[in-house]
Amino acid sequence: MDVIVINGGKVLNGSVAASGAKNAALPLLFAALLAEGEHRFDNVPLLKDIETTELLLNHLNCETQRAGNRLKVTVNEPEELVAPYDIVRKMRASILCLGPLLARYGKAKVSLPGGCAIGSRPINLHIEPLRQLGAHIEIENGYVIAVAKKLVGNHIVFDFATVGGTENIMMAATLCRGTTVLENVAREPEIVDLARCLRSMGAQIEGAGTHVITIEGVDELKPARHSVIPDRIEAGTLLLAGAITGGDVKVTHCVPADLDALINKLADCGFAIETGQDWVRVKPCDRWRSVDVGTAPHPGFPTDLQAQFMALMTQANGTSVITERIFENRFMHVQELVRMGADITPKPQVAVVCGNQGGLSGAPVMATDLRASACLILAGLVAEGETVVSRIYHLDRGYENLEVKLASLGARIERRSV
Ligand code: EPU
Repeated sequence: MDVIVINGGKVLNGSVAASGAKNAALPLLFAALLAEGEHRFDNVPLLKDIETTELLLNHLNCETQRAGNRLKVTVNEPEELVAPYDIVRKMRASILCLGPLLARYGKAKVSLPGGCAIGSRPINLHIEPLRQLGAHIEIENGYVIAVAKKLVGNHIVFDFATVGGTENIMMAATLCRGTTVLENVAREPEIVDLARCLRSMGAQIEGAGTHVITIEGVDELKPARHSVIPDRIEAGTLLLAGAITGGDVKVTHCVPADLDALINKLADCGFAIETGQDWVRVKPCDRWRSVDVGTAPHPGFPTDLQAQFMALMTQANGTSVITERIFENRFMHVQELVRMGADITPKPQVAVVCGNQGGLSGAPVMATDLRASACLILAGLVAEGETVVSRIYHLDRGYENLEVKLASLGARIERRSV
């Protein structure tokens, strides 16, 4: 088992590049199922979740071949249209194969993902819209069993702007008969990237990035050639790492506009931020103000940066109220921060963080999910003494070499096998 060991107290300085976005790459790889032939994706991060996606694609008779950050996916007709429990339980995003398989082959059997550490995470907003496109769907023995002779376009209004639900239905609608109008959809940059890729495959999609997406179904699509957008959550995590140590960190290969919500909050705290075409720099600050943060769908403050921002607020001057509105149980990092000496009162969906209460002290802590792992590492960067973060398989699902990137900025951090 690997752990991350951090000796806190070093100020981070320098420049570091963001990798490709996990949450963009996952739907893109499943979109490949919409067209037979050789697809080529660039800027694909080397992550456990990408490996799990490859495993599922291999199970569906696709060949995958990696060279650095380029991933070739050769899609062949699957022998069986099944996403088995053993793979889906490792990664909830596996449900994203449902829309493409159903649209292309008229049937699919996909294991139900089940809940996870951050919430119950149902898939009703994937299933109901597929029914509205004409699919017959039943849940049997833990599997979603879907059939449709031919999906037919419809006008669908989502109850909530779900990211995965929007992606699944967008992909399915590309091969529908007629026009599909999706209202109240997610507007995340990853949705826009998926639409861009689907368009390059021959799909007719308008409106990605707004509340309404319109898709004109086509008979077939061609293989993708696509470069994945930069990871805004990783970029934000690296900026917060610089900020929490009072350092001077420039994150390159990122899209500053995708980081607006974080940049605005950092500016409210008193940090000076500079941006260029594809970089963001946080400048040194030795005393920052606390600010309140509430997570919300894009362009609001991302839930995937809530835990890391909370680490920053433990060191702020004053009290901060952090509200989690996307997931019902995304405060698992609070108790670990408290074990490091933070003063945080968690209530349902709200955490009250009293900053600067005598600093943090290093401790053995346990990561409970991907972003909680990053939060504990950031806390470790400023804690006195040694912090050992265990269960870092969560970290490896979604951060490409985070400890190597932080070490390149001067952090005393290493991975150890124990
Ligand atoms: N929801 C439902 N029913 C559904 C789908 C979602 O009730 O059918 C609820 C969820 O339970 C949750 C909320 O709606 O409370 C938002 O879920 P959403 O569908 O938007 O999230 P997701 O597609 O499951 C993606 C990211 C998450 C990120 C969220 C929100 C991927 C692979 N995952 O999840 O990323 O937190 O959007 O932005 O894109 C992470 O990277 O750490 C991560 C958890």
